[in-house]
Amino acid sequence: MKKIAVFTSGGDAPGMNACIRAVVRTAIYHGIEVYGVTYGYDGLINGNIKRMQSSSVSNIVQRGGTILKSARSEDFRTKEGRQKAYEQLKSLGIEGLVAIGGDGTFTGAKLFFEEFGIPTIGCPGTIDNDIYGTDYTIGFDTAVNTALEAIDKIRDTAAAHDRIFFIEVMGRDSGYIAVECGIGGGAEFVMVPETETDLKKVVKSLKNLRKSRTSSIIVVAEGDEEGNAELIMEKVKVKINDEDKEFKVTTLGHIQRGGNPTARDRVLASRCGMAAVEGLMNGQSNCMAGVVNGDVAYTPFADCIGKTKPLKGDHLRLIEILSI
Ligand code: F6P
Repeated sequence: MKKIAVFTSGGDAPGMNACIRAVVRTAIYHGIEVYGVTYGYDGLINGNIKRMQSSSVSNIVQRGGTILKSARSEDFRTKEGRQKAYEQLKSLGIEGLVAIGGDGTFTGAKLFFEEFGIPTIGCPGTIDNDIYGTDYTIGFDTAVNTALEAIDKIRDTAAAHDRIFFIEVMGRDSGYIAVECGIGGGAEFVMVPETETDLKKVVKSLKNLRKSRTSSIIVVAEGDEEGNAELIMEKVKVKINDEDKEFKVTTLGHIQRGGNPTARDRVLASRCGMAAVEGLMNGQSNCMAGVVNGDVAYTPFADCIGKTKPLKGDHLRLIEILSI
């Protein structure tokens, strides 16, 4: 393999830059020409593809966001779009791709590989940690720590005013962020899309908890079936029906997607980036390079997007036990 290209796609995640850096430098180390595609699949279609050097990735390991920009491409969903992307790559003689992103990115990569046969390896870049085939995704650890810092601050003011706070965190279809910052932040409840939320139980427990506690923190994953934090707060408030109790909602939003990646995310991103390039060199394709049980592992895209990664069994129990 003589030429490869790398791009980031979907929602950005802290650590994507560290991953790009590892891809670029591993390729150069092995004598492979490497190209950077800007704006994900849209950039492939439009030919936004430039040669990268080792210096192109200097001073980025610590930066959030992605120097290659990111996008969610509508055009790549069409056969015409993918055909254009293929022609762009062919004209430059690019023989392999590294796609950094989440399940949407891998769905596109799988289809593209099946149609045009350009070897592709993915790296799991999403704060949601919802990708099968890796213990953690790039950006998750940073997002959890960002959310945790915010929860700690909210707890101070919640305690000062004896308030019940509903804090909404990201995670479209996954409760990983909610669960980990719920445990780390000492939340009384965590509501996640993976499990049914029993609001009656929440109301009952909040009433009981209030006998011994003056404030409470409830972490809500944005994808919870009961609705967003505002909606859930209203439902609980009506049921508690106590004018002396004050309810507040904080939605953390995109603050969770930015910031300098943690050490854990930088190392994970670097390992996945190196593994992706070396995987391509060794004939791997149509799969993702992740880390499973601490070791690098390649998982077919079909499994990454087709299988769900369940929450860890003891996590939800932990929250219940530790909040008594
Ligand atoms: O997939 C990552 C994620 O941050 C989700 O947690 C969230 O639902 C979504 O992206 C938000 O996407 P956007 O930035 O396009 O609004």
